[in-house]
Amino acid sequence: MRITDIISKKRDSYELTKEELDFFVGKVVKNEVPDYQVAAFLMATYLNGMTADEASNLTNAMVETGDVLDIEGISEFSFDKHSTGGVGDKITLILVPIIASLGIPVVKMSGRGLGMTGGTLDKLESIPGFNIHLSNSEILKQAKDIGAVICAQTSCLAPSDKIFYELRDVTATIDSIPLIASSIMSKKLAIKNKALIIDLKVGKGAFMKDINEARKLANLMKDIAVKHGRMCKIILSDMDCPIGYTVGNSLEVIEAVEVLAGKRKSSSYEITKSIAVEVLGLLKNISKTEAEKMVDDSILSGKAFSKFKELVSLQHGNVSFIEDTSKFKLSKIAVQVKAESSGYVYYDALKFGEISLISGAGRERKEDSIDYGAGIYFNKTNGENVKKGDILFTVYSNNNTDTLTECIEGSFEIKESILEQKIIYEVI
Ligand code: URA
Repeated sequence: MRITDIISKKRDSYELTKEELDFFVGKVVKNEVPDYQVAAFLMATYLNGMTADEASNLTNAMVETGDVLDIEGISEFSFDKHSTGGVGDKITLILVPIIASLGIPVVKMSGRGLGMTGGTLDKLESIPGFNIHLSNSEILKQAKDIGAVICAQTSCLAPSDKIFYELRDVTATIDSIPLIASSIMSKKLAIKNKALIIDLKVGKGAFMKDINEARKLANLMKDIAVKHGRMCKIILSDMDCPIGYTVGNSLEVIEAVEVLAGKRKSSSYEITKSIAVEVLGLLKNISKTEAEKMVDDSILSGKAFSKFKELVSLQHGNVSFIEDTSKFKLSKIAVQVKAESSGYVYYDALKFGEISLISGAGRERKEDSIDYGAGIYFNKTNGENVKKGDILFTVYSNNNTDTLTECIEGSFEIKESILEQKIIYEVI
């Protein structure tokens, strides 16, 4: 078998076999394929697509050429969740302790933020001392002991994804449904558990802007999961407006703590609840009404909040920050934006992603540092009734405010009448 034969077959729109894909990915991870040949393969795939079997075989080759972490052995119920990334997305911080407090172990490997999308690891690192780097044996021990882990992905899981992703980024081949599906699913299938829920964000602030494209991606990811024997549900959720009432690292931890402690509810809780309902339905066949009650009870009883504190403590985070969130230091400059008319306020997720980046809460390049105390607090949440003069939101930053002011322009609208808005579009 020759690499050029595989590239030309894909260039001419033929279906690649499992053997060919295993051979190609095997060579890629051994660094035996030069970048220009990998790039040619990616472009041929981008232009000609892949069948569902091909995408599944590609994913399988990506999984098999790395380590596999087996969580299934810990419990008959085990679960993982993935979000395709959004503005103000702190769902993992709320969901993991809730599900773990209901007796279902969760190992969640997360990423850092890049561009407008925040990363769970950065949020957790805003808690002083929090350790995101755990070895496979530490992950398994913590999962056995408390049923909840949130940590960085170990480099040995699906190693080809990093090679493919870096080349896709510089060859304009990111937006390919089979390449996105195999990228996401290879990392998820490398952690063996029973059920997988994917929160696929759709809208202005997401990489999937169009619901029909999102459906195609969702169906392909589900097909790959099922072919690999994994129970799977894909939730299509709104990303036209930011999630919850905060964007930024410390600010999002504060919101997660307030939701877990039962002090406040927000759209972040609604999304969390929808995911939790699917998990309980898939793994334990529990009805929607009963599952919703179990989730509410995990908050009311304090069990979910205690679980979060256990997780923070075991991963060396300073729990006193979780017990008293006023300890988190926000950035020095606070820009308050007021309503110039009365009505219903609507925020633009894309614009708030940019505001968050400029405030210092995000990073433009991987090597940039971030300001944990920067970000946005929505004094009035999306769709809320406001009066002229009310403070709508506050931007915290240590940066020059001129560019912030420009960016704030056009980031929201005040409408005379209320809009019908959905948080969850559909579940596939
Ligand atoms: N997220 C991933 O992990 N991979 C992609 O290709 C796109 C989004």
